[in-house]
Amino acid sequence: MAATWGGPLLLVGASGLAREVIPLAAEAGRPVLGVLDDQHADLPPDIGGVPVLGPVASAAAYPEADLLLCVGPSASRAAVHARLGPGSRYATVVDPSVRNPAGCPVGAGSVLLAGVAITADARLGAHVIAMPGVTVTHDCVVADFATLAAGVSLGGGVHVGRAAYLGMNAAVRPGVRIGAGAVVGMGSVVLGDVPDGETWAGVPARVLAPRPPVGSPR
Ligand SMILES: CC(C)(COP(=O)(O)OP(=O)(O)OC[C@H]1O[C@@H](n2cnc3c(N)ncnc32)[C@H](O)[C@@H]1OP(=O)(O)O)[C@@H](O)C(=O)NCCC(=O)NCCS
Repeated sequence: MAATWGGPLLLVGASGLAREVIPLAAEAGRPVLGVLDDQHADLPPDIGGVPVLGPVASAAAYPEADLLLCVGPSASRAAVHARLGPGSRYATVVDPSVRNPAGCPVGAGSVLLAGVAITADARLGAHVIAMPGVTVTHDCVVADFATLAAGVSLGGGVHVGRAAYLGMNAAVRPGVRIGAGAVVGMGSVVLGDVPDGETWAGVPARVLAPRPPVGSPR
């Protein structure tokens, strides 16, 4: 499947994800105008060969561009989206190696990296990030702004809530619901529902004491 963005790209967030998207864009022959980040003054002048242009608020100066939110933490990505407002146009980036033979819908602004597999009757919302090797099996629903880190495996009928964050190689039992804004630690095996906003980790996964959202300064 080809990458599915139309015009030049503007990346929001000078993250590792942004650096992962830049070579995909080059491979697909799509220009990347630059990267926007509110920390631009502390960043090098270019990232991955692409110029750092200024703060997020300067997105309006590039009306010809399709935006891509490359902010890693789910909640932060949703917050930046809210700041940019409803008028923005978003690219959807799908690595050519992604398997989605049933044509399951993938929302605008989502990024599917190498080797993601989506089987049948699944739905991925907007601004979802699926890192390399994620498996989304039949009847799964992945809501807007969710993040599935590398190697996450979702059993059939799993529901991942809005802006939830699943760490690397987490495995989720069929039919389980991961709540909105919940975090699942890397390597966890999730056997039961995870309530909204909670952090669970381990094998089997158990709730951790309340903590700041992934990506917050500690
Ligand atoms: C779950 C997670 C968010 C917790 O991070 P944190 O709030 O900084 O927690 P800490 O590292 O302080 O650990 C708190 C406790 O949870 C345990 N813990 C943390 N992550 C764990 C995990 N994945 N599995 C099992 N236990 C875990 C720690 O051992 C510690 O236990 P203790 O209190 O008995 O010592 C984090 O460890 C994690 O897994 N993040 C996902 C990373 C990832 O996959 N990123 C992908 C993008 S590169």
